[in-house]
Amino acid sequence: MIMSKTLKLRAFTCAPLIFLFVFICIYLDFGSSQKLYDSLWEPKDSNWQVVDEGSSGLLANMISKYENEQVIRFYHENPDETNDVLLYAKDRNLDIWDTSSRYTDIRLHREIVKDMISKIPNHRVLISNVSRALTNSMPNGREMKSLPPLNFNALSSMPQEAFSELYLQYTEEFYKNYQNIEAINSYLRLLSSMYSDLCELTSLGTTSEGRSILGLRIHGRRSDTHGQYHVKDENEVIILQGNAHAREWISIPTLCYSAWKLVAQYDSDNRVRNLLDKFEWIFVPVLNVDGYAYTRSEDRFWVKNRQSIKTSNCKGINIDNNWGFGFTGEGNPCDELFGGLAPFEANETYAMFNLISNTLPKEGKTTVGFLDVHSYSQSVLWPYAYTCDLLPADDENFQELAMGLTKELHRVNGRFYSHQQACIPFDGIHKHYHPGAAIDFAYFVGEVRWPFTIRLRDMGDYGYLLPAHQIIPTSREFYAMLLYYGQFISEAAY
Ligand SMILES: *[C@@H]1O[C@H](CO)[C@@H](O)[C@H](O)[C@H]1NC(C)=O
Ligand SMILES: *[C@@H]1O[C@H](CO)[C@@H](O)[C@H](O)[C@H]1NC(C)=O
Ligand SMILES: [Zn+2]
Repeated sequence: MIMSKTLKLRAFTCAPLIFLFVFICIYLDFGSSQKLYDSLWEPKDSNWQVVDEGSSGLLANMISKYENEQVIRFYHENPDETNDVLLYAKDRNLDIWDTSSRYTDIRLHREIVKDMISKIPNHRVLISNVSRALTNSMPNGREMKSLPPLNFNALSSMPQEAFSELYLQYTEEFYKNYQNIEAINSYLRLLSSMYSDLCELTSLGTTSEGRSILGLRIHGRRSDTHGQYHVKDENEVIILQGNAHAREWISIPTLCYSAWKLVAQYDSDNRVRNLLDKFEWIFVPVLNVDGYAYTRSEDRFWVKNRQSIKTSNCKGINIDNNWGFGFTGEGNPCDELFGGLAPFEANETYAMFNLISNTLPKEGKTTVGFLDVHSYSQSVLWPYAYTCDLLPADDENFQELAMGLTKELHRVNGRFYSHQQACIPFDGIHKHYHPGAAIDFAYFVGEVRWPFTIRLRDMGDYGYLLPAHQIIPTSREFYAMLLYYGQFISEAAY
């Protein structure tokens, strides 16, 4: 049954290509389900089944799960009101989507909505039916499909022209929907095969469920067509990580898109060529691989990774609270914000730490840029996240760059992103709002010059359920911002 679904998917992929249909589909293996596993180039893993998630996973069980849930924005005017809202949510273990000094967005059951509004009247309904918003976030209002994984053994013997055609088509389909992890990995591998002189795909580590954390390392062309030494190895690195929080799906295609554009425009755009000749870029589009898989099969609003905790039956560490600076080690393992019992306990955080602190220095490289890409709320944030009592020495420079980034982004589609320090100036329970954040560690310990957290679309209308048709517009504005970021760093005199 699973096979027939997948076959349909393949047919769907191949259908528009009438001339090359037979030709290419031979290379997308049509074989038995055993062959399907073989088509994965990653080590085989029982969690890696390819399914049409629309009929067997999240979408199927979601109607009953989320149909009586809403997302409400509660406004607060002073720290006391903020505390009231947050305490109410915490006492009832509600899912806080976003919080700022002015409002808090909460996902909750209709029944609780009434009670909460009676206590905190100042509110606005963001999502009146979570179930409906979830189906609407998929193309055609329900299609939770992924592209099939590619068989790279078969592809290696494919004629160049057919391979290029496949690449173009896979790319075009890729950004029409939120893809599963197998399709994302296939896409990244396809990209690295297509532009093998500009990038390599590497594994940065393994998650607790045994999946590889993939990084795409992009750089200038190091030799010319005659194999002559051309560009010297870049010694400065810009790192981008996405999906540290599992439910922030939009960060994944957005990073894939930027990686794609950088390699695809290397030969046609001087600005891009200069940026790739100057820096090595490392893209990690899916840092929280296990968490992401879980949001596609079980719980769309899962945040943490899926690691077991010694002291608890609850699973998962919040990757962005697990870095070794401003780490508190407090909290309940059942809580979404739980940052682990020790810094770098999460395999994913450790993998990134290892990249920045061990791997790159050993190669004689320094990380100068670091973008941690999240959603939502459309903002550009800089250190510190763990406290508002300290201004970083580079505060003014951060501000200048952040302002330029948001302006550049605005030019593309007219979207406004805000910019500020990552901490949120509350008192009471939220004094140290964000312990163990990636940007704080990168800046203070890792000595990364330009660390930012970027929170992508939107402003709360869809929140984490951003419709798939916004993938391309979100990606395009992020890419424009990214080019500005690279250029600014390359020209910065301080
Ligand atoms: C929410 O939407 C789902 C799917 O469209 C529907 O089945 C359900 O009845 C809706 N719930 C309410 C309370 O309207
Ligand atoms: C990650 O998780 C696996 C499985 O639990 C474990 O074997 C491995 O040692 C962990 N740590 C790292 C750094 O990969
Ligand atoms: Zn996040």
